[in-house]
Amino acid sequence: MEILRTVEELRKWSREHRRFSASLGLVPTMGALHAGHGSLIRAAADACARVAVSIFVNPTQFGPNEDFTRYPRTFEADCALAEAEGADAIFAPALEDIYPTGAATFVEVEGLGERLDGKSRPGHFRGVATVVTKLLIAAEADKAFFGQKDAAQVAILRRMATDLRIGTEIVVCPIVREADGLALSSRNVYLSADERKQALVLSRAVRAVEALAAGGERRSTTLLEAAGDVVATEPAVQVDYIELVEWGTLLPVDVAAPGSLFAVAAKVGATRLIDNALIA
Ligand code: PAJ
Repeated sequence: MEILRTVEELRKWSREHRRFSASLGLVPTMGALHAGHGSLIRAAADACARVAVSIFVNPTQFGPNEDFTRYPRTFEADCALAEAEGADAIFAPALEDIYPTGAATFVEVEGLGERLDGKSRPGHFRGVATVVTKLLIAAEADKAFFGQKDAAQVAILRRMATDLRIGTEIVVCPIVREADGLALSSRNVYLSADERKQALVLSRAVRAVEALAAGGERRSTTLLEAAGDVVATEPAVQVDYIELVEWGTLLPVDVAAPGSLFAVAAKVGATRLIDNALIA
């Protein structure tokens, strides 16, 4: 497995393989890789002849009081996991390579960028859209793989790729969970044993909504109330949002339709966690 350190190296690697008409897959990550990331890399390896995994903790998507400096950085273990799942290259650029001195160009997806997580994390999706644009331009991949875990992020990146006529297909992979339901996240390492238990209300809320919807309940108020009741069983968990939206626009819906997105975000202690489900 190759380690590529600069945009130029990534571009060269990508063009080299494309010369032999190999299909390329890109899996953008911030590192601290777990089985959720692993499933994306595996999906990319199944679909594409060559796979690059980018590891870059992107400062522009963190707010001033968020966890940029303490975000887990586990490069050696990340390389091992990526290689085991079928990656051919790791792209691990320096900050200056992604944001050259004087960088003044940002990608903003208007409207969508202020919904769901964008509401409580102003500027977050601007940072995400900007870095992913840079990665997609550099990699020139056929397909880029993202997790449904970050469903709002997917909606924003799809809009961005469509609007900018980016030739890379955005592929979405299912949420990988612990046996007890907790969605895997690089931030789960922040949780104390108590918080780890409290955090289960998110996936329980998701399951409650899925069960009600499967039973025919379509009213947003009823579904959201049920989810709220589940989360309220852990009073220490602070809800950021509980919403039922259209996935494409992230705008609230009154009645759930197949493909509507139920999404929840909450703080468990100091750790902000998210979870979601698509209504069947
Ligand atoms: P990161 O949080 O490292 O996640 C990288 C990718 O892994 C994202 O597409 C995310 O949705 C996916 N992922 C995370 N947890 C998952 C799980 N439990 N199951 C399935 N997929 C999961 O998302 C980012 O990084 C950044 O915003 C990034 C897109 C790299 C831009 O900086």
